Amino acid sequence: MQFHSTDFGDDFIWGVASSAYQTEGAYLEDGKGLSIWDVFSRRKEKIKAGDSGNTATSFYHRYIQDVILMEFLNIRNFRFSLSWPRLLPEGIGRRNEKGIEYYNHLIDFCLECGIEPWITLYHWDLPQALEAKGGWTNRDMLGWFEEYVAFCIRQFGDRVKNWMVLNEPMAFTGAGYFLGLHAPGRKGLANFLPAAHHAALCQGIGARTIKSINDKLQVGSTFSCSPVDPIDQTKLSIEAAQRVDVLSNRLFIEPLLGLRYPWDDLKVLQGLERYMKGDDEKLLQGDLDFVGLQNYTREVVQHSAMMPYVNARLVKASKRGVDRTEMDWEIYPHGVYRVLKRFSSYNGIKKIFITENGAAFNDQLKDGHVDDVYRIDFYEKYLQQVLRAKQEGVNVKGYFAWSFTDNFEWAEGYSKRFGLVYVDYPTQRRIVKASGFWFQNFLQQQHLYLRAG
Ligand code: GCO
Repeated sequence: MQFHSTDFGDDFIWGVASSAYQTEGAYLEDGKGLSIWDVFSRRKEKIKAGDSGNTATSFYHRYIQDVILMEFLNIRNFRFSLSWPRLLPEGIGRRNEKGIEYYNHLIDFCLECGIEPWITLYHWDLPQALEAKGGWTNRDMLGWFEEYVAFCIRQFGDRVKNWMVLNEPMAFTGAGYFLGLHAPGRKGLANFLPAAHHAALCQGIGARTIKSINDKLQVGSTFSCSPVDPIDQTKLSIEAAQRVDVLSNRLFIEPLLGLRYPWDDLKVLQGLERYMKGDDEKLLQGDLDFVGLQNYTREVVQHSAMMPYVNARLVKASKRGVDRTEMDWEIYPHGVYRVLKRFSSYNGIKKIFITENGAAFNDQLKDGHVDDVYRIDFYEKYLQQVLRAKQEGVNVKGYFAWSFTDNFEWAEGYSKRFGLVYVDYPTQRRIVKASGFWFQNFLQQQHLYLRAG
């Protein structure tokens, strides 16, 4: 490999990312309330092999061993999310002391191990009690979310300096409120449009709430993003790709930056107007210290009159004969360079972190080892592109690998393994993969450099 972690600068943040529902388990223990994913994963046929996050990687009970393993692997930044129903079982009001105690212990132990916690406030596990009142389609969500954010900052903001408001609003509103593929399994525009609008408003509301309590905290929010290319250069395909790009890359970042909704470029989004009230235009804006970009692949699109609203469909990697991961996502390292260049061209974006990047491959445990050289190759190629963007002046200040351990991959259940560390689910044993040792060595240089410094 032609570069080292030190080439990114001694102030570059290196970490791993995870989320509560995908790892904690203990779904009904110690006073935790139900989340929409606890309920959704019980529905037949929704999750591959009928999997659920009931146990996941049992991080709730095993966080000490996992954090010690992180330290051993030279990881010094850990992005994780708070389970809203573990803290406020009904979503508002009553607090769960055991939940507060758990996160205090996790945060304190990370700090004791020299690991900086980076917290995502919302990574998709909405309290079921709020979904029963309409969830993200109910404008009362603005108040519920504000109360939740203020609660978390007051509990943990004295030790946690880095906060992300939402994880991928396009993913959870699109898959959860339009397609019905993710929790809570709602479908259609009547669910998607209000949910998207209220999530977009909560980006700014969350940021302002955090800053109003402690303006020293670093606040960001995360966005799934991929380059979107037309399958050919016909006008139909180019225009189809532009419409998909509005949803994939612009819908949530642009109103936050004061650029309004991009509804001139995707007609169906004009339906958002019906849900706008008072000075929502202003409320949509938010002043973030950073944005978190989450890139894995790129999308290739062709026109399709059959597809409503967007008149476009994605052409899967397996249909295009390209290198791909187990998720049928094209391995396209140039994509992380393209999204970094593109997002850094927005005036309002001050700083960028890659808050997720990684790959699922068909990892096989053989004689106690997982020789995932293909994942090492993936990381080397993508990191090369992050470095290229940085060297060209993009203000990218850190990188979080998705994910530390294999975990619950939403509708794919446990069939997809993204971890640097293999989880043998029946025994919950952790086995560091070759890529985990590669990452340890890659980060070693930075530590030697920092120690020398
Ligand atoms: C997402 C979520 C993660 C996923 C990861 C792999 O980006 O969809 O933040 O929870 O598990 O991206 O798909």
